[in-house]
Amino acid sequence: MILPAHLLIRNGHLCIRDHDTVLLAEEYGTPLFVTDEDRIAANYRDYHEALTSRYPDVQILYAAKANGNLAVLRALASLGAGADVFSAGELHLALAAGMQPGCLLFNGSSKSRADLALAVEKGVVVSVDSFDELHQLNEIAGMAGAQAAIAFRVNPALQVPTHPKIATGLETTKFGIAHALIPAAYREALACDNIEPVGIHCHIGSQILAVEPFVQACGVMMRIAAEITDMGVQLRFIDLGGGLGIPYRMSEERAPTPEEYAAAVMPVFLEGIAAAGIRPSLWIEPGRSLVADSTVLLTRVNSVKEAYRTFINVDAGFNLLIRPAMYDAYHEVVAADRADQDHTVRSTIAGPICETGDILATDRLLPALRAGNLLALLDCGAYGFAMSSQYNSRPRCPEVMLKGSSAALMRRGETIDDLTSAMQPLPWQEQDTPPG
Ligand code: LLP
Repeated sequence: MILPAHLLIRNGHLCIRDHDTVLLAEEYGTPLFVTDEDRIAANYRDYHEALTSRYPDVQILYAAKANGNLAVLRALASLGAGADVFSAGELHLALAAGMQPGCLLFNGSSKSRADLALAVEKGVVVSVDSFDELHQLNEIAGMAGAQAAIAFRVNPALQVPTHPKIATGLETTKFGIAHALIPAAYREALACDNIEPVGIHCHIGSQILAVEPFVQACGVMMRIAAEITDMGVQLRFIDLGGGLGIPYRMSEERAPTPEEYAAAVMPVFLEGIAAAGIRPSLWIEPGRSLVADSTVLLTRVNSVKEAYRTFINVDAGFNLLIRPAMYDAYHEVVAADRADQDHTVRSTIAGPICETGDILATDRLLPALRAGNLLALLDCGAYGFAMSSQYNSRPRCPEVMLKGSSAALMRRGETIDDLTSAMQPLPWQEQDTPPG
């Protein structure tokens, strides 16, 4: 198996640089998410260098939905990242992590009035997703005696090569305003008393393994940018979204590097701004490609069952990693405590959840496993813990962060008390009823 540079096999154990996952699992228990801050920083720097070597004014907005742990946000904030936030919660987390309001974008196709008021209060640019939302925001900003800075989310109506559930820029999706209506949207924004259009935004999809769709989207954005500049809009930024994929199947897939992305997209951007006679900031919103490969999910084998398949029953299920069940996603599985043994047994990794679909990986060649062995699912840093749940009343597991030779909890494991802590006793139900 091909592994990313920060992962290696030493004495049969999967190691994250100098950290032995077998020892981490012993110390913190399983299941366990382990994230490498150094890998996140390296991923961030790859983007930053690729883009700023071609245009100096670049702001990377980390897509906070990918992994909302404050420690991850803090790590990225310290490198200069802002964030794409999709909820009031993500906005609060980004600010708590030390990100500047000026490098946040409040995205979303269904924001409440409270969301819009929060963006106005905090001075965060809103990516407006409908004419209705524009008028509500104008009213809310007026009541607050403020000007709301906005971008419109463009729906570029682009087919992209990815799972249909995560293609966000199709004509049929719920996101954005049809590109043909965007000039009218800016005209309307210019006519609003309390709205200041300062940017333009799009996102075409996630887990895209080619650069061409981004080049196409950039072309659409640059044509619109020129048109609305002529109309009098002063664009402070053009946000091309996120979406660069990662090679989940490392031996079969290749993902474009940030350098390849920049080499393909930047000429279109630079030509576009030159034609429009503007020098806006370039914003991009990567999530997955910054954090996915930073994290492994360690899970221990509870039992092995020879049935229609060889089921390896483990202690992590789709409560912790829903991507295989939800998108038929593929995550590499490493036998973390016996990686040097012959991989001869076709094994299906099944979680503990009461659903047939709780399968993390199907028919993978692994060493012969037994109860107590340790497995690692790779590339779990994006949309892993972030999409976890307490389904089947399973407390979520802890998350550990590594940096250099240090390791520390960045989230404790939940307890049984955490399952009930937000539940309220009802006045008409007796509490602590003794059984029988
Ligand atoms: N910006 C916007 C407006 C987005 O909607 C998204 C992702 C991103 C940025 C970040 O895209 P990325 O660089 O991570 O591809 N849960 C799914 C992915 C959903 C992505 C939705 N939007 C998965 O596990 O594959």
